Amino acid sequence: MTATTTAGPLSSATHADYLEGLEPVLTAHDISIDYEVDPPVHAVRHASLTLHRGEILGLAGESGCGKTTLAYGLNRLLKPPAILRSGEVTFHDADGTDVDVVALRDDALRAFRWDKVSMVFQGAMNSLNPVISVRKQLHDVMTTHRPQMTRAARDERSAELLALVGVDPARLDSFAHELSGGMRQRVMIAMALALNPQVMIMDEPTTALDVVVQRGILREIMRLREQFRFAVVFITHDLPMLLEISDRIAVMRAGEIVEIDTAESIYTRAQHPYTRELLTAFPSLTGERGSFVRTGRSDETGPSAGTEKGDAS
Ligand SMILES: Nc1ncnc2c1ncn2[C@@H]1O[C@H](COP(=O)(O)OP(=O)(O)O)[C@@H](O)[C@H]1O
Ligand SMILES: [Mg+2]
Repeated sequence: MTATTTAGPLSSATHADYLEGLEPVLTAHDISIDYEVDPPVHAVRHASLTLHRGEILGLAGESGCGKTTLAYGLNRLLKPPAILRSGEVTFHDADGTDVDVVALRDDALRAFRWDKVSMVFQGAMNSLNPVISVRKQLHDVMTTHRPQMTRAARDERSAELLALVGVDPARLDSFAHELSGGMRQRVMIAMALALNPQVMIMDEPTTALDVVVQRGILREIMRLREQFRFAVVFITHDLPMLLEISDRIAVMRAGEIVEIDTAESIYTRAQHPYTRELLTAFPSLTGERGSFVRTGRSDETGPSAGTEKGDAS
């Protein structure tokens, strides 16, 4: 956590305590990303962050501040005119190897993506292929990355994945237009889960959904994280929502991470004026921020547990 820019992000003593003894799974250091257009856009500026094993790290900031660009940088998904100006990304594999993500090429990169770090893309639920069944789209992930799997094994895993995200496996033969927005987003999460990644990057995974459906999906993500211990980078412009689900939160403004701290510290004693501004900018999911609890962590029967089955339809 060495600060390289003049100021560096704000954080508290509580944050330092929290970090004690945690094991990193993904480390990004001094990431700067430009779009080489005229005039150039400095979309990400000297961003550093560490994601720990099993942790949910929220990445907040208003539209256009560089969240998606940073996420693409972490996962080596940048395409021209985007260019990584500086920075290192290291993946700390559970097997003990450190992977220099920026240096990965071809097969090694393909094996890394989705297998180690998967992504739920912004607007993903609208990018399910309309003419291919859910089953085939889940199979495709496995055919590409696990060519040795038999068809029967792929079928079994596909059904299991749907069940995991709260979708009836009978939906395997459905097409995108036959599913609600919430179900389509659940299918996208199932695809990201398919290979048991150690990190999932979720870019605005609930933004287009109504609040009840959002709730159901958030609870599912929390539950799956408990079950499989993957770490999550959860991206949204909705900071109050992040307070409910994140262990830590990084606040981004104009390409820079201006504050990074535990969710609790962000909630109770945000230091950056911009963080405080964001805290009041959106209605909280609960409507009552004081009631923010890590629903789904140790308390499976959170405030509205069992009431959102309807979002599966
Ligand atoms: N392909 C592109 N060409 C030029 N500028 C881009 C491109 N994509 C994104 N940008 C710019 O980069 C900045 C960050 O965008 P983005 O990462 O999408 O922000 P966020 O995800 O926080 O909404 C914005 O100013 C946006 O206009
Ligand atoms: Mg975005």
